Order: sequence, then C-alpha cells, then structure tokens
Amino acid sequence: MYLIKLGGSVITEKAKRYTFRTKVMDHLARELKKASQDMIIVHGAGSFGHILAKEHDLDKGYKQDTQRFGFAKTQAKVQQLNNLVLDALHNYNIVAVSLPPHSTVTFNNHAIKYIDYTLFERYLEEEFTPVTFGDVVLDDSRGFSICSGDVLMQALATHFKPEKVMFVIDEDGLYTANPKLDKKATLVTSLTTQELTTLSTAADTHADVTKGMGGKLSVIKTIANQGIDTMLVNGNKPERIYRLLVGEEAKHTLIHGGKT
Ligand code: IPE
Repeated sequence: MYLIKLGGSVITEKAKRYTFRTKVMDHLARELKKASQDMIIVHGAGSFGHILAKEHDLDKGYKQDTQRFGFAKTQAKVQQLNNLVLDALHNYNIVAVSLPPHSTVTFNNHAIKYIDYTLFERYLEEEFTPVTFGDVVLDDSRGFSICSGDVLMQALATHFKPEKVMFVIDEDGLYTANPKLDKKATLVTSLTTQELTTLSTAADTHADVTKGMGGKLSVIKTIANQGIDTMLVNGNKPERIYRLLVGEEAKHTLIHGGKT
C-alpha cells in the first residue's frame, strides 16, 4: 500500500484564498490512476485552510469566543477543497472516499489522541481509496487544534507501514538551500535521516499554521526512523509520480528509512 500526501501548495495557490489548481489536480489524478496501486491519499489545506486559520489564530487553541466561527468556517472550506479533490479522482474512476479528521480524529495538547484506524482498514478491505486531509479538530486540553496532513502522514505510516511514502510538493525535492531564494541551491537526490538535520529548510513565504517545511522534515524523520523510505517529488511534473510509483526512475529526493 502507498501513502501519498498531495501538498496544499501543489493543489491550491497558497497565497490566494480558495484557489484550487484544477488542472494540476486533474493531472495528478490521471497519473495516480495510471499507476493503479492500493493507496491512502492525504491532502493539505493550502489556501482553503491556512489563511483562515491564521486570521482566527486557530493554531493557538481556544482563546476567545469569536474563534469558534473561524473554526467552523475553516472546517467547511477544507471540506470544500476535499470535495474538489474527490471530484478529480472520481473523474478517473478512482473509488475515493472521504475520511474527514474532524469526525475521525481527536487531539490532546496539539497531538493526536485518537484516530479511527478501523475505518481506514475497512475501506481498504473493500478496495476503496481513503482520502483524508489537513483539517481542524477538537482538542481535549486546548479546545481545538489544527490537524495537519503531515501529522496524519506520520500516524498513518506508523500504523499501516506502507511500502512507499510519498510527499508531493511544489519543488523537485530537498535542496542544499532554499531554491526560491538561492540560485546556487542544488537538489539532494538521496539522503539518510542523519543528513536530513544538516539541510536548511525553505523559509515559508505564505501563511502557514503548521510549521511548513520544518514540520514536514521532522515528520519524515519519524517515518524514516521506522525503516520506511520516503520520497519527495514535484507535483507540477505529475508524470514523475507515476514513474516512481511503478518503480521507474524520475527526479526526486529519497530519504532512506533506518534508525538514526
Ligand atoms: C493544514 O494542513 C490544515 C489547516 C490549516 C486547517 P496542511 O499543513 O497539511 O496543509 P498544507 O499542505 O501545508 O497546505
């Protein structure tokens, strides 16, 4: 089984509120169908979640009553994005079903307390493709929390031990420096978890309430520590995703699984 995250900066324009990148998502769905593998898909919230969450300080937990409206609105908007993703997958006959974190996950103190894995298992048994996503969830000690797609990736990887874990991002992979700011940055094609810590991470330029690239690297480290390989691949070149899923060569960064 493959575990794949479609990053919010690939499927949406992260700086522009509620802009779905229809064409990119269509291409991604086409390549995923072609690769024809059992998979769980996780997608980010992009500009359907981060901007609203920032405006309402949702990453800080419950502080004042007006945030409740922000929570409700964010939940509705990420669900809207999820429907767009499902539509794209359905167009290619991928039998994708939605498992929204706000009804399958609870948090305590900003960390996952409970995930209903049996629902994922049941859908997989029935040969569906479960799709979950970055969302807002209830939190026992903070009132509510942001549940990022990356945190879901970590939990699902730990539970399901997938054959391949793939993060679809808006760069070719990991670089020696931030490629958006430094022309001399070079792509790192393969690295161990130890080497991961030496890399500088891209400074996030858009509203990002889930720690951006730094958060992603820490999640990848946890996944790699369990012996699972993780690939980072550019979603704007969707054919690479197909090639990697069927075991062919394509530009990407591979983080080798193994204990640090
Ligand atoms: C963020 O999810 C969830 C909300 C802001 C509600 P992610 O952190 O997985 O989203 P992307 O991939 O960065 O857009």
